[in-house]
Parts: sequence; C-alpha cells; structure tokens
Amino acid sequence: MPDLKRTKIEKESVSGLVDFDAICALLLSGEIAAIPTETVYGLAADSADGDAVAKIYAAKGRPSFNPLIVHIADKTAAQKLVHWNDRADKLAGAFWPGAMTLVMDAKKNNGIASIVSAGLPTLAIRCPAHPIMRAVLAQTGLNLAAPSANRSGHISATSAQHVRNSFDGHAPPILDGGICDQGLESTIIALRPNGWQILRPGPITSAMVKDYMGEEALPLDDEGSIEAPGQMSSHYAPDKPLRLLADAPKNDEFYIGFGAVESDFNLSQNGDLVEAAARLFLALHKADESNAAAIAIASIPNQSIGVAINDRLKRAAVRI
Ligand code: TXA
Ligand code: MG
Repeated sequence: MPDLKRTKIEKESVSGLVDFDAICALLLSGEIAAIPTETVYGLAADSADGDAVAKIYAAKGRPSFNPLIVHIADKTAAQKLVHWNDRADKLAGAFWPGAMTLVMDAKKNNGIASIVSAGLPTLAIRCPAHPIMRAVLAQTGLNLAAPSANRSGHISATSAQHVRNSFDGHAPPILDGGICDQGLESTIIALRPNGWQILRPGPITSAMVKDYMGEEALPLDDEGSIEAPGQMSSHYAPDKPLRLLADAPKNDEFYIGFGAVESDFNLSQNGDLVEAAARLFLALHKADESNAAAIAIASIPNQSIGVAINDRLKRAAVRI
C-alpha cells in the first residue's frame, strides 16, 4: 500500500533541488554521484554498468573484494534480482522502505554487473526510505549500487559536508539533502535456507527482526565475516586514535560523552540511543576536525541500537 503522505513529501523536496535533474542525467550517463539516504550518504552508480561501478571503487579506494549494496525502488525490483522467498517477503513488508539490507541468492543473468557483488553468488539489496534517494530511483529507473560515500575505511558521511571532507578536493557531485536522520548504516540480514542472521548490526535490531520472523537468528560463525568483507576489523576510522569506554578525557583528548556528563560533544544528553546513533559519525567528524590530538568516548549501553553503535566504535578504534 503506497504511503500517500510520503509521496507528497517526495515531490516537494525534489522540486526544491535545482541539481536533481543533473544528478539523474549523470547517473544515466555512467557517472557516479553522492546521494543522501536515511542512513548515510551513498556513492551511487548504475548497477548494470560495470565501468560506472568501477568508478565507485576507484573514488573510494575500496578493495575490489568488498561487494556493494544495490538500492532498489520496491519489492518488485528486488524479485527480479534475487530468488525471493517467504522470509524476504515478511521482512520487506515490515522494514522496507528502510534501513534493512537483505543478502540473498542472486538470480543468474539479473543484469547486475559482476563487479557489484565481487564474485559472490549472493546480492545485497536495500529499498531505501529517503525521499530524495527514492526520487532518484524513480526518475532514472536504475537500480543503484551505492556504498557509503566516504573514502574506504574512514568515517561514513551523514551530511554533504562530510562527503566533501572525506574526498578532500576530489569529491564526486553531491545531491545535498541535509543531515541523514538515522546516521548509521543499514542492518544487513543474510537469508539462509534454514533461517536468518545479522551480518552487520544497524537501526533494525535483531530483537525487531526476531519479533517479525518468530524465529531466532542462526548463530554467526566465521562464514559471516568472510561474507561481509566490509566488516573488516579496522573501519569507520577517524584520523586520530580513539579510546573507548572512557569515563573522562585525559589531557589532549576530545571527549565524546553520552548522558548527563560534561563533554566536548554529547551523543545524547538524555541517554537516548537512537539520538546517539544519529550523531555518532558527526561526533567522530567533529573530533577529527578539533585541535585535540586524540579522541575518547564514553561507554554506550550494548542494547537495542547500541549494539550497532558499539560495532562501529570497536572497528573505529582499531588502527592499522
Ligand atoms: O545504509 C547503508 O547500508 C549504506 C547506504 C548508502 O545504503 N550503505 C553502506 O554500504 O553502508 P557499504 O558499502 O559501506 O557497506 C555495505 C556492506 C559491506 O560490509 C559489504 O561487505 C556488505 O555490505 N555486502 C555487500 N554485498 C554483500 C553480499 N553479497 N554478501 C555479504 N555482504 C555484502
Ligand atoms: Mg561503508
């Protein structure tokens, strides 16, 4: 059932964007562009055009073994790309459009360039909720491969300025849609013949998925980490060293607080985890831009979306 209220918002926000048509034309001609989604900005290209997708890998400095998510307009588009099933139908009904990516067996000859899935037999697909991304999908009629719009391994971008900063003078064309309201990348759920498992925690928590599926997640073994190669130990990294679980800052540390504490930047004064998730990458960008030599961050409760926050922080603290 289409959400009519949302359709109206789409039209309004698109008419206000002067370069919307230009961005669509670029994508149709095999170029890349940064586009806002409700999670983070994505660096998009036509997923059927291998040369266009290669430009994403080059711009990000992304290892070619790390596959991309394909953004689709709706369930019908998904069904053309992967072997759809009942579990997918249930999850899509509950969480699409939204911050959920499904990893499923890809259909043969589905038109997706092989570079997108880096040779895996599966494909990651997401139907985004952001009105601007949805409008781009509708106007171009493309399925868009899009990783987060940041240099590989660095902090994801939750504003157009973050995209600009990340590419340091070599930024792609950006469609400025303001700040991403969720601020953390989508939850990645792999659908297996006998159940589901979470490859990357995100805004849709495993408790939410369990509620809808009525079945527990399958245990994650090493296979999970191989299959989501983007889940590398060092990722989302600020330029400065990051210290976790810090009750207070040491000298020369930029302190990111949580709850009623004094800090240089507070993720959420009220201890609200959803707000903290939305502001996490903003906090890391601010810390990098500050004069401090290092960063310290308060401990974050490991519940609900806090699991996804801690997943990102653990990787952000690893230095290579
Ligand atoms: O919210 C998001 O998911 C954002 C926005 C732009 O949609 N995108 C995003 O993309 O976070 P990226 O490329 O930064 O992360 C995608 C993750 C990577 O860890 C990649 O390894 C994993 O998805 N992935 C992609 N295809 C996969 C597949 N077939 N099997 C397992 N993991 C896959
Ligand atoms: Mg990323």
